[in-house]
Amino acid sequence: MNTMKKALITGATAGIGFHVAQELAIIGAQVIITGRNRERAKQAVDTLRHLSGNQRIEFLPADASSISSTLQLARQVSAEHEHLDVLINNVGGLFVDRQVTTEGFEATLVPNFLSPFALTSELLPLLKKSEQGRIVNVVSSAFGMWHDDPLVALDFEEDYQGLQAYARAKLLNLLWTLTLSRRLQDSSVTVNATNPGMAWTPGTQALTPQAVPAWRFIWPLVRLMQKRASPAKAARSSVFLASAEAVRGISGAYFDEMKQNDLPAHLLDPELQKRVWDLGMRVLNQQRALTEC
Ligand SMILES: NC(=O)c1ccc[n+]([C@@H]2O[C@H](COP(=O)([O-])OP(=O)(O)OC[C@H]3O[C@@H](n4cnc5c(N)ncnc54)[C@H](OP(=O)(O)O)[C@@H]3O)[C@@H](O)[C@H]2O)c1
Repeated sequence: MNTMKKALITGATAGIGFHVAQELAIIGAQVIITGRNRERAKQAVDTLRHLSGNQRIEFLPADASSISSTLQLARQVSAEHEHLDVLINNVGGLFVDRQVTTEGFEATLVPNFLSPFALTSELLPLLKKSEQGRIVNVVSSAFGMWHDDPLVALDFEEDYQGLQAYARAKLLNLLWTLTLSRRLQDSSVTVNATNPGMAWTPGTQALTPQAVPAWRFIWPLVRLMQKRASPAKAARSSVFLASAEAVRGISGAYFDEMKQNDLPAHLLDPELQKRVWDLGMRVLNQQRALTEC
């Protein structure tokens, strides 16, 4: 393990993120966790301090479904901390029914792609001040279920399906990870993506068969498998990418759980990745301008 000092983990008052926070606290990191609910957060911080014996655990409220809330989080972190060693963009999930955020975006797209893009962009100056900043983007193997151009019909007005919206958003996140890695190659900051694997978490528990129509006939079996999947085990890949010496210097890679996997050749297209980058920047600049008004 490296001598990691300060880590920010989004969506970590429960689920996989909580276990990532616990493991990083155990190895001595100063840990900042985010979430929306202050009561849950207080309980999570107390539990993490108790389980790890590490008191340097802090909660900052932020709603990853809102880019302005994400920008506010970035401002607060930047105001209170001089550097950041690890950023784990863990928050994510899907909306079973189509929703549009108050900022006008299809709701599944925001926590899985637009917010991590915004948060990371704003925190890059802090990460660059670390001896070796690491960004971990938590995606899902579901990205492979999206077979069209990921940039068309982003509002998903027709034939919305939660799992499809999730697959597209995670694919955009993965494509952004690849292009971000190239843009960071002259710095000491690395960025990798991981599929943590299945876990029984609040997000999984909230799923219904409408989110994944193809699974509706085998739903009891799906639920049985999900209930058996440990969030502590699913936390291992983020902890590994955030702290292991073995991955020092590795960037732009996709890890399926703990194993580095090759990606399909069509995802390596720089033009496709640039379009994803341009989308993220366009939205970020738009929201920056709105929040600065
Ligand atoms: N679970 C799986 O089977 C699985 C499989 C593959 C990939 N993943 C990915 O792994 C990551 C973690 O998954 P998970 O299942 O642990 O998620 P989860 O159950 O939804 O995570 C719960 C945590 O996220 C916070 N959270 C949820 N929505 C939030 C929002 N809009 N803004 C801020 N915090 C929010 C919750 O706090 P509050 O409710 O207080 O906000 C809580 O701390 C996600 O990116 C997910 O897509 C999960």
